[in-house]
Amino acid sequence: MTLAASDCGSCHEDAERAWAASRHASARTNETYAVSFAAARHEWCETCHAPQAERGVGCVSCHTTHARPADDVCAKCHQFDYPVRRTLDSGLVEYTDLPMQNTVAEWRRSSFSTKACADCHGAHDVRGARDVAWLRSILSLDAELEDDTWHVTVTANGAGHAVPTGDPFRVLRVAIHVPFEGRTPVLESAALERVAKQDGDRWILVDDTRIPAPTDGRTRSSVTVEFSAEVSLPKGAFVRLTYEYADPMHRRRIRDDDVVVSIADLELPR
Ligand code: HEC
Ligand code: HEC
Ligand code: HEC
Ligand code: HEC
Ligand code: HEC
Repeated sequence: MTLAASDCGSCHEDAERAWAASRHASARTNETYAVSFAAARHEWCETCHAPQAERGVGCVSCHTTHARPADDVCAKCHQFDYPVRRTLDSGLVEYTDLPMQNTVAEWRRSSFSTKACADCHGAHDVRGARDVAWLRSILSLDAELEDDTWHVTVTANGAGHAVPTGDPFRVLRVAIHVPFEGRTPVLESAALERVAKQDGDRWILVDDTRIPAPTDGRTRSSVTVEFSAEVSLPKGAFVRLTYEYADPMHRRRIRDDDVVVSIADLELPR
């Protein structure tokens, strides 16, 4: 049977329905992408976000033959290096040797390398970090006071790679909030993120403070952040864990819950 890119759903209704509700179907049209693409309209972006034009990451982005795709089908878009910026508009993009998205390599070194990406994400619904209930179910917070230091631990249970993974703008933020005149401003905060900077034609990894992928058969892994406890906190102070999808500077242009969501609050032991 030959594959017509436009018509798979007429026979495969279940796959079509699950896919249509996914971020793959909206990879070109969702607001977060649309705003950032408008700022830098490189053809390169469309090779992953719109290989099938308005169908985004459509059926034939993964199915090139009339069968289940090869095991490494996710890698062509979910594992790539920072491009050399001056080549972005030439159609012949050159790459540096620093991963921009490293999800597949993280997964290969993890305890979950025996599971396929689709075993956790589904082949067509590809639920991910935009499924806030899922995020809340795998991430947890703990705090301990020791001498003059708060040790706040963030644990991920059941992620097959680092958390956050994927897009470099993804950040987990741990912040101490203190009640003040009916509001709860931030006293201190720490970001769990991967930071890289450009240096001419190269990119350099500056820091990686994310929750690493679990290894050695474990399903969970953690990161502990320290805050000074020299200042005594008022009653009601708490730690809040948030997940940022996009740079908060875009808040005015993108819907609020497409920029950042709240994952967990924990009252600090006194
Ligand atoms: C006219 C109906 C029809 C259309 C259109 C169609 N398929 Fe199929 N497809 C089938 C049938 C029937 C089967 C099961 C029999 C077989 O394996 O050949 C199948 C099997 C498959 C399988 C393998 C399923 C398995 O369990 O291994 C995949 C993957 C698939 N189709 C993808 C596609 C894609 C992608 C398109 C569009 C580019 C498409 N199909 C278009 C009827 C269709
Ligand atoms: C992101 C990649 C990707 C896209 C896009 C994709 N598929 Fe699939 N598809 C897969 C994978 C992976 C499997 C194998 C799942 C498994 O073995 O559990 C699969 C399996 C299938 C199957 C076999 C039976 C089943 O449902 O599991 C059919 C039929 C199918 N896809 C049709 C489609 C159609 C139709 C579309 C477009 C609406 C589509 N696929 C888009 C990755 C994709
Ligand atoms: C043709 C490129 C391409 C392929 C192949 C591909 N993806 Fe994606 N994927 C994308 C893009 C682009 C996005 C971001 C969409 C957006 O703008 O939100 C994405 C987003 C995702 C997300 C995030 C969803 C969320 O809610 O945060 C998951 C999970 C995902 N893909 C899993 C997979 C899996 C599993 C496979 C292989 C079966 C796969 N992808 C194959 C391009 C691809
Ligand atoms: C053991 C289960 C598991 C496996 C295997 C797994 N993931 Fe995930 N993935 C998760 C969980 C849980 C999340 C949500 C937490 C997070 O964002 O990291 C997630 C999140 C993601 C996201 C969303 C990141 C974001 O912020 O938008 C992408 C993209 C993704 N995974 C791709 C993949 C790809 C590609 C593979 C295979 C190479 C894979 N995952 C393997 C569990 C898994
Ligand atoms: C090699 C493939 C690839 C290229 C090229 C690419 N992206 Fe992506 N992009 C992805 C994948 C995969 C994701 C999903 C990662 C995740 O969920 O964390 C993504 C996610 C994003 C997101 C986050 C979307 C969301 O759901 O919040 C934005 C914004 C984005 N890309 C913009 C761009 C822009 C602008 C370009 C061009 C300058 C570009 N991308 C080029 C693969 C690519």
